[in-house]
Amino acid sequence: GQSTGKRLRQPIVVVLGHVDHGKTTLLDRIRGTAVTAKEPGLITQHVGASVVPASVIEKLAEPLKKLIPFKLIIPGLLFIDTPGHELFTNLRRRGGSVADFAILVVDINEGFQPQTYESIEILKQRRVPFIVAANKIDKIPGWKPNPNTPFVISHRKQPQWVQEELERRLWDNVIAKLYEVGFQADRFDRVKDFTRTVAVIPISAKTGEGIAELLAVLAGLAQRYLQNRLRFAEGPARGVILELREQPGLGTAADVIIYDGVLRRGDLIVTGGLEGPVITRVRALLMPKPLQEIRVAKRELEPVDEVYAAAGVRVVAPGIENAVAGAPIYVATSEEEAKQLAEKVRREIEALRIKTDAEGVVVKADTLGSLEALVEALRQKNIPIRYADVGPVAKRDVIEAVASKEINKFYAVILAFNVKILPEAEAEAEKHEIKIFQHNVIYQLLEDFEKWYREQIE
Ligand code: GTP
Ligand code: MG
Repeated sequence: GQSTGKRLRQPIVVVLGHVDHGKTTLLDRIRGTAVTAKEPGLITQHVGASVVPASVIEKLAEPLKKLIPFKLIIPGLLFIDTPGHELFTNLRRRGGSVADFAILVVDINEGFQPQTYESIEILKQRRVPFIVAANKIDKIPGWKPNPNTPFVISHRKQPQWVQEELERRLWDNVIAKLYEVGFQADRFDRVKDFTRTVAVIPISAKTGEGIAELLAVLAGLAQRYLQNRLRFAEGPARGVILELREQPGLGTAADVIIYDGVLRRGDLIVTGGLEGPVITRVRALLMPKPLQEIRVAKRELEPVDEVYAAAGVRVVAPGIENAVAGAPIYVATSEEEAKQLAEKVRREIEALRIKTDAEGVVVKADTLGSLEALVEALRQKNIPIRYADVGPVAKRDVIEAVASKEINKFYAVILAFNVKILPEAEAEAEKHEIKIFQHNVIYQLLEDFEKWYREQIE
């Protein structure tokens, strides 16, 4: 019913946070609660994502209508779980993210941890608005769970000393920490201006408390502030490659998030790799079979003819094994347009790889997305980069570091994010006393290097 005549698509919502803080449990709970709401057929499973339709969100948020009045005009929410940070960083899109919104999950008892900080850094870099789910409130001493109840109702039923303990943990472990990293934040029911204050929603993914508020706040904010981003055009698809995977019997396939348009079997598509652009045709599109049992771990995929944004889909196409995770993927409507898009993709990927003769560190990362996030983090810290690329640490990277050493020995290091070190590189590094830092948390990798750097210059 928009005046432009265009529909709105589902906002793409990414769930992230530190290991074990409850991302997957939260998503399971949202899906599971929807099932208990007797509308399982309405939840559609995608590749690496699931869609919760507006009708289900409205039903779950029903008890809150008086507190947070809202009417949904978005068709639903597409949730993406991110087991690893590579996946999240790969949701990249020139100058931003494919994710429209994020839920940062923080264990209210354990507070901020390395990957919490890292998540916030990347959300900042990519300018993704977010809310915080302060999870595991059921573990607060004395908390009496009221399963699947809104937070405000369950909270009212707790004794005062328990309410005070919740408040203390919420403040010390979450809100104060958000302030420390530059965000104004408050409990969601005290937020007056959601554009300036990050809303924190106390929840338990285990008992379902607070899930109603989480969904209501999320859906309300997304449709209020993101309408322009969510206008859906029934044109050629645009998306990003999250991950490359082996599809038994079909070779390499790409798991893709489509954020605009329609992708069809047979479409001419353009994506990119380290050796150059890839132009090919979609041989098959695979989607999970409709949900029968909610807890089926390995859901079988089946071929479909087309998918509409927003969607997560597995794309089978000859030559796609030459693409790189984090690369854009576009549908071209002619050979001519394919060439233009290929050039655009090539430039975009080349812009993320750095080759200079100047002093600076050497950076190797596993995907385009993590490379971009790492390079950006280094730039913010004014750490110069001589060379940055995707792939394992090879001999030539050590040679780059040796060349850098001749200019400034403090930058003669290799920062390896989530990649292997090839044996010959290891030997070469030893010979030239080049230090290699390795980690799978960007934040930690930089900390390790900075600590070493401070020790060296003393
Ligand atoms: P990774 O994917 O490994 O990063 O972890 P995750 O963030 O997805 O955490 P996950 O959902 O797997 O939960 C980790 C553990 O915490 C599991 O044992 C969950 O059962 C438990 N857990 C999650 N949410 C809650 C909660 O609200 N309350 C309690 N008591 N336990 C929870
Ligand atoms: Mg998980």
